[in-house]
Amino acid sequence: MYSQGLLAIDAENSETPEFLAAFQARIDADEKIEPNDPMPAAYRKTLIRQIGQHAHSEIVGMLPEGNWITRAPTLRRKVSLLAKVQDEGGHGLYLYSAAETLGVSRKEMTEELISGRAKYSSIFNYPTQSWADIGAIGWLVDGAAIMNQVPLCRCSYGPYARAMIRVCKEESFHQRQGYEIMVTLAVGAPEQKEMAQDALNRWWWPSLMMFGPPDGESMHSDQSTQWKIKRFSNDELRQKFVDATVPQAHHLGLTLPDTDLKWDKDKQSYEYGEIDWDAFWRVVKGNGPLNRNRVAARKKAWEDGEWVREAALEHARKRRERSMQSQAAE
Ligand code: 3HC
Repeated sequence: MYSQGLLAIDAENSETPEFLAAFQARIDADEKIEPNDPMPAAYRKTLIRQIGQHAHSEIVGMLPEGNWITRAPTLRRKVSLLAKVQDEGGHGLYLYSAAETLGVSRKEMTEELISGRAKYSSIFNYPTQSWADIGAIGWLVDGAAIMNQVPLCRCSYGPYARAMIRVCKEESFHQRQGYEIMVTLAVGAPEQKEMAQDALNRWWWPSLMMFGPPDGESMHSDQSTQWKIKRFSNDELRQKFVDATVPQAHHLGLTLPDTDLKWDKDKQSYEYGEIDWDAFWRVVKGNGPLNRNRVAARKKAWEDGEWVREAALEHARKRRERSMQSQAAE
């Protein structure tokens, strides 16, 4: 594993005030922290938590859309959706690799996910009921992901920041393919427009919840901001998303399912209604519409892949053995 040679893990035993101040000075100077650099144990732990959750979200996020690959309405739509779902798998792999540089294995992270100890984004616990949901997910969910993830390209931890650059480029294509589906439906037959409106009604509020609890209840934000893991607060990003997305809904001729939504001329920003935070926490705590199915699907995939992992390890062992034998014979 990439992290086996980590130098810093032992060094963390002595977190003197001088060590912590020197670390913060590097962050304040916008230096990137790299895997072998000394870092506070809490910084490492926070990153493992966030990157691990992020990786799980990408992988679990393949399930709701994967559900529509065989039912895409045209060949072109099928090809785009296949490419998108495959990209999400790739994002999960870069992110698991970034987390591994901090000294945790993918096996450990996966076991945390399938035992229910690790979180993944609340948004992926809702069902995809119609083709319009694929449009709404690309437009809203990937749109929210971009808003949250572009600042992560400047995260203080080098491997995470670098992984996010490619992820964001791909998310941008995902957002466009979703919006294009919505445009097609919105200018189509009345039934198609109705499908688009229904999808917007169901995905709007869960998309706003993706940014996490309100700032006052966000337990990790202060520390993560000080370490420049987070560059904007949950509410700031949510507001940016609302301001960018509402005009797009108007362009589609669709109505946002929020009777309190109004333009605030002074703030040059939209005021939006109260988010149902009880519903959010129910989903985060495992009681959303599809939490159990999602975790069961990941558990099955992990168990079904056991033989592949064993075969790869055995192959690597044999190659090592052959190489040692040929070296000994020279
Ligand atoms: N779903 C599930 N759990 C959530 C959540 C959400 N939408 N929002 C917050 N939480 C959890 C946090 O993980 C934390 O729980 P923990 O202590 O057990 O880890 C708790 O709620 C409190 O939240 P905080 O605001 O204190 O947590 P953070 O400071 O970590 O902020 C975050 C939450 C904004 C999601 C941040 O972790 C982050 O930016 N993560 C990276 C991006 C990410 O993971 N996005 C997920 C979507 S990926 C995606 O959409 C794929 C794309 O292809 C569409």
